[in-house]
Amino acid sequence: MQKVQLKELLEEMTIDEKIDQLLQLSADFYSEKAEERTGPMADLAIEQANIDQAGTILGVSGAQEAIRIQKEYMAKHRLHIPAILMADIIHGFRTIFPIPLAIGSSWDESLVKQMAEISAQEAAVSGLHVTFSPMVDLVRDPRWGRVMESTGEDSYLNARLARAMVKGYQGNDLKNDFTRVASCVKHFAAYGAPIAGRDYNTVNMSERQLRGKYLTGYQEAINAGAKLVMTSFNTVDGMPATGNKWLINKLLRKEFGFSGVVISDFGSVKELVAHGVAENEKEAAQLALSAGVDIEMMTSCYAHALKELISEEKITEANLNEAVWRVLVLKNDLGLFEHPYRGADVAQEKMLVLSEEHRQKARETAQKTIVLLKNQEKVLPLSKEETIAILGPGTTSQDILGSWSWQGQKKEAISLHTGAKQYTNNLLYANEIYDYFEPTQKAFDEAIELAKKADKVVLALGETDWMSGEAASRSDIRLPQSQRILFDEIRKVANKVVVTLYNGRPLDLSVLDSADAIVEAWFPGTEGGQALADILWGAVNPSGRLSMSFPASVGQVPIYYDVDSTGRPYEVSPQEKYVSKYLDESVYAKYPFGFGLSYSSVEYNGLKLDKQTLEVGEVLQVTVTLNNLSEKATRETVQLYIRDVVGEVVRPIKELKAFHQVEIAAGKSKEVQFEIDESMLRYIHRDQTSRSDEGLFECLVGPNSRDLLQKEFYLNK
Ligand code: GLC
Repeated sequence: MQKVQLKELLEEMTIDEKIDQLLQLSADFYSEKAEERTGPMADLAIEQANIDQAGTILGVSGAQEAIRIQKEYMAKHRLHIPAILMADIIHGFRTIFPIPLAIGSSWDESLVKQMAEISAQEAAVSGLHVTFSPMVDLVRDPRWGRVMESTGEDSYLNARLARAMVKGYQGNDLKNDFTRVASCVKHFAAYGAPIAGRDYNTVNMSERQLRGKYLTGYQEAINAGAKLVMTSFNTVDGMPATGNKWLINKLLRKEFGFSGVVISDFGSVKELVAHGVAENEKEAAQLALSAGVDIEMMTSCYAHALKELISEEKITEANLNEAVWRVLVLKNDLGLFEHPYRGADVAQEKMLVLSEEHRQKARETAQKTIVLLKNQEKVLPLSKEETIAILGPGTTSQDILGSWSWQGQKKEAISLHTGAKQYTNNLLYANEIYDYFEPTQKAFDEAIELAKKADKVVLALGETDWMSGEAASRSDIRLPQSQRILFDEIRKVANKVVVTLYNGRPLDLSVLDSADAIVEAWFPGTEGGQALADILWGAVNPSGRLSMSFPASVGQVPIYYDVDSTGRPYEVSPQEKYVSKYLDESVYAKYPFGFGLSYSSVEYNGLKLDKQTLEVGEVLQVTVTLNNLSEKATRETVQLYIRDVVGEVVRPIKELKAFHQVEIAAGKSKEVQFEIDESMLRYIHRDQTSRSDEGLFECLVGPNSRDLLQKEFYLNK
């Protein structure tokens, strides 16, 4: 539709029709079964007219159902305006990929883009138009359950992967390419920093830290063209994001130049009352609309109060029109006026969803997200000749999709046991299913007996999917007690113990200190158990690098690699008493950001800079040589960090600024090059502007954020 027609449409709409365009209701309001509608309707105290005119619908799935709902909806709508169908496709639609925290450990933008493309294809053919992804909240506290949904603790890595996801979801022609969906970046802003790691809790940080660390991912997603932004549940400087005029109207819309749709999170408009910044739903509606929130998800403050607020001149009809206009533009950008069913296609859906090709891509993705944390005396990879006992709750578990796998079906997931049979029949495994929390004595005894008979034990441990995700914070981030006991007892009788982990957060793995090997598989998705077996039996050389630090214990949390320097840095004088440290714990992560082993051994040396002083407008060439000392080809993620030694404000001891993934053949060497320019040295100053200072910098290059070669250079301005 031409813009002029859209304007005419807006003018033709009644005020009730406009207000309902800003209402998002869940799919059960459109269910064919009336009884599924009445409950939710009563909860929201809305009328059938609101339902018939609600501008967007949450959580419809299946081409047939999407077509039915859209057809009935448009027939009922006086102006036949189509609805937008939105849902959470976070890491796959029906073919489930590894969770985003695992995806972050791939450091592979093209892989991430492909994941988004496949997710969009399956979602679009099933009738959906928008996904509430990527979630780009920076995370530094593994107690928070939603770390599983983020690509980790580094704003630079998050930004690069966020761009890849938006491009994968949206493609280049959203209006005509019906294999794509619009991307909604979330949760704006800084939802990943709740005090004490407790979901929905207060967020408290300076504007400078917000701008310098937490906003980068959202900005990059918006620069990549994300069509929507979702506000977060938390406060930003004492004001909930969903009612925060500074955050939305000033920062997002004016400073970032975002002109698309802003949607609240589920119920977060009404929650302004619970936060204590609105007396009632009417004040909540006024706050949210004035702040710039266009769509109210699953509460009815707008539906109940906007008309009155306009008549009392507390908001203007122009405010209302602006919000409705953005929703109509989004519908037009999706091509919905001409093609209200867009990509929905029942026949195509049967062929495309969970296709073998998609499964294979999910398997390849999972292989590249798995992180080898420990491999003592090369106990891995396993060989066909060895008798392997696969024990513990993860052996046959199909609970490997993660908590945001919505349409994913656990019964379609490949377990580790099934995957292992591709490689060997020389397997011992228990007949009894081993419970994650309360195994039977029989299962326990059987496991111990089998452990004695095996050459090596693969002990599959971890979390269940409900232990991470939304409203799933944990104060104790160790493995469940029964699993810790199982490990201790098996350790006593087994020859070699390889622990594999399914989990949605960095865990305190101190109980596993005596394990011979530890393999972090996260929640690896529909093909996860197969990918894990591919790694264990050496068909694939592990290449994952941690997207988030693993603490030595929860007492260190929040822990992350890019810490600011302090006045008494531990690193400088670790023996000193009066330095920043603990009496009872290391100051370092157990496994740091960017860490991961492979079955190869790669030496980094010969770090060279082509100049000592960098001038503005120039480029400083960085070269490092990698030697693969092993007989196995490998994939290395070479990481470049920079330290600004003296700043206007305290600066981090290092920050990731670039990375390259390189394949190195067995026994070969490879030279890897980076370029540093002045823009990479900029940071947020006290006046909230981003610029660089001249002076001394350190260039640090290596396989992770800890083991780094270092050279100094100067920036001259
Ligand atoms: C949830 C989540 C958000 C999700 C939305 C719709 O509460 O916070 O990430 O997109 O509701 O399901």
